[in-house]
Amino acid sequence: TAPLRLGIAGLGTVGVGVVRLIQEEAALIAARAGRSIEITAVSARDRKKNRDVDLSGYAWEDDPVKLAQRPDVDVFVELMGGDSGPAKAATEAAIAAGKDVVTANKALLAHHGQALAEAAEAAGAVIRFEAAVAGGIPVIKALMEGLGANRIKRVMGVMNGTCNYILTRMESAGLPYETVFEEARSLGYLEADPSLDVDGIDAGHKLSLLASIAFGTRVSFDAVELEGIGRIDIADIRYAGDMGYRIKLLGVAQTTGRGLEQRMSPCLVPVESPLAQLNGGTNMVIIEGAASGQIVLRGAGAGEGPTASAVMGDVLDLARGVRYPVFGQPASTLAEPVAASVAAP
Ligand code: NDP
Ligand code: HSE
Repeated sequence: TAPLRLGIAGLGTVGVGVVRLIQEEAALIAARAGRSIEITAVSARDRKKNRDVDLSGYAWEDDPVKLAQRPDVDVFVELMGGDSGPAKAATEAAIAAGKDVVTANKALLAHHGQALAEAAEAAGAVIRFEAAVAGGIPVIKALMEGLGANRIKRVMGVMNGTCNYILTRMESAGLPYETVFEEARSLGYLEADPSLDVDGIDAGHKLSLLASIAFGTRVSFDAVELEGIGRIDIADIRYAGDMGYRIKLLGVAQTTGRGLEQRMSPCLVPVESPLAQLNGGTNMVIIEGAASGQIVLRGAGAGEGPTASAVMGDVLDLARGVRYPVFGQPASTLAEPVAASVAAP
């Protein structure tokens, strides 16, 4: 079988992680995929930047759109980020050229998921985005495949590694916000615009994607009720602890008689609950299926290795010929959700 040829746009934390994983595990990946997976071309802003990884065997494109259109690229891997600009243009170009896309970009899909899904289906292309939600946890695969026959009652959890890192390090190490924020940056957890993390927007993007898959509705990020962690200080964390609680940025999506509720906000959780035990960049997603009952998924929510693992899981699926609609069912069948305002907790 011919090799699957990748074009990777974005060589930051995640892009370099993917290049390293392919270089280090080429034989294992080829054995499991049944064919070799090769990088043919890469793109980033600064060609001269030292990225601590060998890129000498790959063609370089300054323009990610050109990378996406190259005839020697089968799968366009978008790891630049951003809900517009080059990430959107290059993803659209790849789809128009009939190429499959693997992306970690939750912002792009939260804002343009429906249009991109429709375009992909019209072109016979597939978009996969496991890395976009909860880093290394294969939660999208769980919802789409293993739990695919379930009516989902609720999806909830901690979905932003940066916020969880900040909240837990402030409590456990007694360090100020600014210090733990810089630690999170050095671990590669932060978005290029970190206000997306601390304002709860990034986690809201993720929740809106999970809600679409879980409830068969069009992505409706604008309907997510959002509050970030910016107003929480060390005193709040200590008071919560005195009362037997921890503060977590918690997301909940569920359907009720009134419609679809989506909320991402800081919540008090009892210290003995599994959610309260999550430290550092760990995420947890809890899925309640009508037939399956409760499923709990826990793991690293951000960082180079876990995110590269999720990207490559999608690439492996494409190499094996595993294809399904972007949000688990044809885009034309996704219902327009009725937003139900969430009662105050
Ligand atoms: P980084 O900021 O580390 O890297 C972004 C990369 O994109 C850089 O290599 C940058 O080039 C390149 N880039 C940016 N703009 C352009 C452009 N206009 N043209 C060409 N290249 C461009 O981001 P991350 O690796 O952290 O994140 C990438 C994506 O993965 C984002 O969508 C993010 O939300 C998502 N993600 C990140 C996770 C993480 O833990 N970091 C986890 C899950 C998802 P240059 O290096 O030259 O500046
Ligand atoms: N900035 C994100 C986080 C990266 O901290 O969770 C993973 O999506």
